[in-house]
Amino acid sequence: MPPVTKGLEGIVAAETAMSFIDGEKGVLEYVGIEIDALARHSTFEETVFLLWNRRLPLKAELDSFCADIRSRYELPPGMEQRLTALPKAAEPMHMLRTMVSALSLHDPRPNDNDVESARQKSLNVLGHAPTLVAYFDRYRRGLPIVHPDKSMSMAENFLYMLNGERPTPTMARALDACLILHADHGLNNSTFAARVVISTLSDVYSALTAAIGSLRGPLHGGANEGVMKMLNEIPTVEAAERYVLERLEKKDKIMGFGHRVYKAYDPRATYLKTLAKKLAEDTGNAALYEKSSRIEQVMGKAVAAKGIYPNVDFYSATTYHCIGLRLDLFTPLFALSRIGGWAGHIIEQLADNRLYRPEASYVGPHGVRYVPVGER
Ligand code: CMC
Repeated sequence: MPPVTKGLEGIVAAETAMSFIDGEKGVLEYVGIEIDALARHSTFEETVFLLWNRRLPLKAELDSFCADIRSRYELPPGMEQRLTALPKAAEPMHMLRTMVSALSLHDPRPNDNDVESARQKSLNVLGHAPTLVAYFDRYRRGLPIVHPDKSMSMAENFLYMLNGERPTPTMARALDACLILHADHGLNNSTFAARVVISTLSDVYSALTAAIGSLRGPLHGGANEGVMKMLNEIPTVEAAERYVLERLEKKDKIMGFGHRVYKAYDPRATYLKTLAKKLAEDTGNAALYEKSSRIEQVMGKAVAAKGIYPNVDFYSATTYHCIGLRLDLFTPLFALSRIGGWAGHIIEQLADNRLYRPEASYVGPHGVRYVPVGER
């Protein structure tokens, strides 16, 4: 039996043609295009097309892809009633996991797993998921639901459904950039979960549901909410150093720092840092950015030598706050974007499937006599 690799670190378990990561140099590319160029110039819809088709679309192809997604903004009949039957106190990530699973009940052929069917089901979830999050947020706040507007991009429409008014171009563009940055990232934990589930030839909904469950963990996508909670706990910029050093002393993890693959600065964090600074200044949240920046300085002195730098979740917290998102919508927003990546991986897995079935090294006893219950 080969030695156990805890956390599967360094194990190559799949091939992908979507994202390339060089963790030593801090490089991330989607289909060969640097993430920074995409965040600056692309749109989320175009990025998903790129990931699924391994090339940028022609104008007519992009228009048709966007129209296809927009035609799926509205929920299937009955889903709104299902959603508004949920407890208002439910956490949005639990809601999203449950409702993405429930979408399978509204699909007459939920188990079709040929590549074209998987694309169609993925498009359904991609189109419906922002509506689920926005509807739930308004429902729990006792506000009337705002129906989607098909004339808007996914980013714009999401903010419109949440807030009941069209967002400014700056806010819509900031959100769009966040969606691009979070769309795919190699064989991260939730993507692996999706690939593991679909490798049994289960179904797209089950695979996406598993992925959402994985993403919400604080070591994964849930870290963005952890970062915001930390920022809220630190009363002033001056208090940041002591807060961080005390936690490091206790061997606590500082949320938004460190990465299994990156041992250099996460290129998504580079982009988000600039975006967070600009948005914070524009929205009167400069102190929040200053606090983040101070935490980064302290972490830099304390642990950067170990290859621990801000990851995507660190500055996305300030960014989301400035966009006006409630704290528990941070991780759902990550999920809305990552559905693009998960679906791409599900399609890749189905196109060349082999069941994932690793082994465990047994460390328990052997030859133990069975003792009947009355004799124990
Ligand atoms: N704060 C303080 N120390 C850290 C941190 C951190 N955030 N991350 C890693 N370390 C230290 C850790 O204590 C250990 O030190 P030592 O060797 O002295 O015991 C060393 O770095 C290696 O840590 P590890 O936990 O074995 O590394 P890993 O590859 O298993 O974990 C990680 C990666 C992302 C789970 C971890 O860095 C972490 O828990 N970070 C905080 C949570 C977080 O921000 N997660 C988001 C990840 S990126 C985007 C995403 O997936 O959403």
